[in-house]
Amino acid sequence: MCGIVGYIGQQDASPIIIDGLRRLEYRGYDSAGICTLNGGEAQIRRAEGKLINLEKILREQPAEGCRGIGHTRWATHGRPSEINAHPHKASNIVVVHNGIIENYLKLKERLQKLGHNFSSETDTEIIAHLVEEHYRQCGDFEKAVRLALAEVKGAYAVAILCHDEPDKLIAAKLGSPLVVGQGQGEYFVASDIPAMLSHTREMIFLEDGEIAVFTPDKMWITDLVGQPLVKQSKTITWSPMLAEKGGYKHFMLKEIYEQPRALADTIAGRLQGEEGDIYLEALGLSDAQLADLDKIFIIACGTSWHAGLVGKFYIEKLARIPVEIDIASEFRYRDPIVTEKSLTVLISQSGETADTLAGLREAKGKGGKVVCICNVVDSSIARESDGVIYTHAGPEIGVASTKAFTTQLVALYLLALKLGRSRGNLTADDCREQVESLLALPRKVEETLELDAQIEQIAREYMNARDFLYLGRGNQYPIALEGALKLKEISYIHAEGYPAGEMKHGPIALIDESLPVVVLVPRNATYDKVVSNMEEVCARGGIVIAVASGEESELQGKVAALIKVPETTEDLMPILTSIPMQLLAYHIAVLKGTDVDQPRNLAKSVTVE
Ligand code: AGP
Repeated sequence: MCGIVGYIGQQDASPIIIDGLRRLEYRGYDSAGICTLNGGEAQIRRAEGKLINLEKILREQPAEGCRGIGHTRWATHGRPSEINAHPHKASNIVVVHNGIIENYLKLKERLQKLGHNFSSETDTEIIAHLVEEHYRQCGDFEKAVRLALAEVKGAYAVAILCHDEPDKLIAAKLGSPLVVGQGQGEYFVASDIPAMLSHTREMIFLEDGEIAVFTPDKMWITDLVGQPLVKQSKTITWSPMLAEKGGYKHFMLKEIYEQPRALADTIAGRLQGEEGDIYLEALGLSDAQLADLDKIFIIACGTSWHAGLVGKFYIEKLARIPVEIDIASEFRYRDPIVTEKSLTVLISQSGETADTLAGLREAKGKGGKVVCICNVVDSSIARESDGVIYTHAGPEIGVASTKAFTTQLVALYLLALKLGRSRGNLTADDCREQVESLLALPRKVEETLELDAQIEQIAREYMNARDFLYLGRGNQYPIALEGALKLKEISYIHAEGYPAGEMKHGPIALIDESLPVVVLVPRNATYDKVVSNMEEVCARGGIVIAVASGEESELQGKVAALIKVPETTEDLMPILTSIPMQLLAYHIAVLKGTDVDQPRNLAKSVTVE
């Protein structure tokens, strides 16, 4: 899990690469490095830690030249250090890599016997030596890369330079994302679109097993044996501004505030009010196929898995199909009973999460149909699925997922309505009624955001707590899990999400006057039960922060803090109650002074298993 950038053209490569890496730092920031070619001479600069450290080095020792590659790292093989920072070099070959080489120890042994000396603990350095070994024998950079990659097992997106052939940049991919940007007399390559968006909008998405060779004025793409391939470019319409902070202190806050727009965009064009039906443009399954399903699997990780937990409620209620939900890293190892009548729904913001991708392949391999709910257009998961429902949240840069989560909930709701209609469980009138509530949702999210100042005040009061407990029931239980995850990942406070009714079976022992307990208690079918669970906390001196709905509340005066979100339907309420979860975690993290957008040990897109 790293970000790579490459450039070949007429401009100074270094600032272009650094700008690209800055937009890829969400992929990891354990170290950063760059190599430029000035004539035939490779100029490598590397630094441990964030990009800012590399920029400092570059100010003292600039790297010159119009060809270059760069890297921002999330450590897998070898600890974060300068020595393990990319680019890695073997004689005339310089490589940056995102992915994991699984057979690296075997290859390393063989190369060592041939006299190669290694200076890092990384698997990536093997690629540099392997290409160099082949280059020494065949004297052809392109051929040497092909021969080397044919021997490599695992996942890679690589960009490679050779200072004996300085007018060529080679990039290749297998299992890790890689996009090519086409400019005028210049080419870019990067792990993700925003890294190149300020230079070009014409992009080519490389597929697994493809190699792109660039010179300043032309490029060609082949497969691993050298067969030429014809690829179409796509015009990307995102504005670069969309990926910037837009005046907010952090991307996370900006993304929290973007939710009304993100939700409206995800709903737009998908409601056919008059017909009482849902239009999902790329679902890839006919009504008859949807009607024929007998089981649904939902597979995802982290926050996306929490969305899936809510999705199970939606689908079982509206379409009456049994739903099994799995954490992706567990799914493929339990030999799930997938048949051709099952539909597997993958949920992923990035579309690159390795565990989710592996789950997709497992389900597909067993003959099931596969669709995904995904935010990143043409990402690996989107490309490999039979159908896709895009969440139109726009780029999510903050590591803590916010707008992706709420748009995933809307996408799941649309899918459940679609299934319900196709299978005859919902009438056109039923569907129209839900559509009304969906259309009102963005405005209600705006109203919920007005609670920000109150929540900041609550954050001030409880920021020094050592632990937090989050309780919810039914479709609010996943929101309790999500609230706890948000707090853990950005404020580093230990937090647990628990089904409110299960508290008396153990966690109740934790409750004392120092434990803030966030209780999700909107008006719904289990309201009275949750109020009783809350009373149990109060009776033991616990500090209750209640998240309730509607104008009046009998909870006033009983609890330490009362956050009141607007009313909506029981189904859509998780979208509203998740907003205070995001804001509470955000303000506590800011008050504690943590790195909100790039919390320690985390990365935005987890492309290793
Ligand atoms: C969310 O705040 C997390 N950073 C993380 O749990 C994330 O949701 C998970 O890694 C899955 O990512 P994906 O949606 O891109 O697949």
